Amino acid sequence: MKIFVDTADLKEIRRAAKAGLIDGITTNPSLLSKVLGDRSLADCLKEIADAVDGPVSLEVLATDTDGMVAQGRELASIAENVVVKVPLTEDGLVACRQLRGEGIGVNVTLCFSPSQALLAAKAGARFVSPFIGRIDDISHEGMGIISQIREIYDNYGFETEILAASIRHPLHVVEAALLGADIVTVPPEVLWKLVNHPLTDRGLERFIEDARKADIEIPTRESAEA
Ligand code: G3P
Repeated sequence: MKIFVDTADLKEIRRAAKAGLIDGITTNPSLLSKVLGDRSLADCLKEIADAVDGPVSLEVLATDTDGMVAQGRELASIAENVVVKVPLTEDGLVACRQLRGEGIGVNVTLCFSPSQALLAAKAGARFVSPFIGRIDDISHEGMGIISQIREIYDNYGFETEILAASIRHPLHVVEAALLGADIVTVPPEVLWKLVNHPLTDRGLERFIEDARKADIEIPTRESAEA
């Protein structure tokens, strides 16, 4: 399963890329609004697209087909790895088909049902983004749609990849993986939580302590650099 990071924060993106933990990036207007400050949007998007060797989803703001297609072309011209994110609306599906016809990869976002995901696949989406956490937020079981979409796509051999989004905690990641999502996109805080386990920390402390007691030399960062 591929892991994308769901953020526009370059510091976090670079940290995750340096650790070799991510295969791509997803952004949305809300995430960009948190980091933009007084920087130009164009510069910010270019830096994000260059920060990782993998697909980077950038979202259109137009809501009509022509506007989405025009903005999608602009976004796609930023870098070769850009995937254009369009909303799962009638106009968005038409724009998806059109952009796809021009060889531009599309991520159909704001997907909340298997029927919507079926239409995204038929429109030729490269990725479909079901929003798990937001379904949970309204007291429905978000993860259920991942298994339904998986089954539908497998029944008909659709190549659209299921990109589980709106991920709020590590268990969402595990469940999405068990249900066969192709990709999970996680906020940085969830990514780092995936790494941590208190028993790992405790186990490591004990190994170091035992080595010290036996006078075994423990390399430090400084000694490694020397
Ligand atoms: O990738 C979509 C995601 O950013 C939405 O997450 O937490 O705002 O529902 P959230």
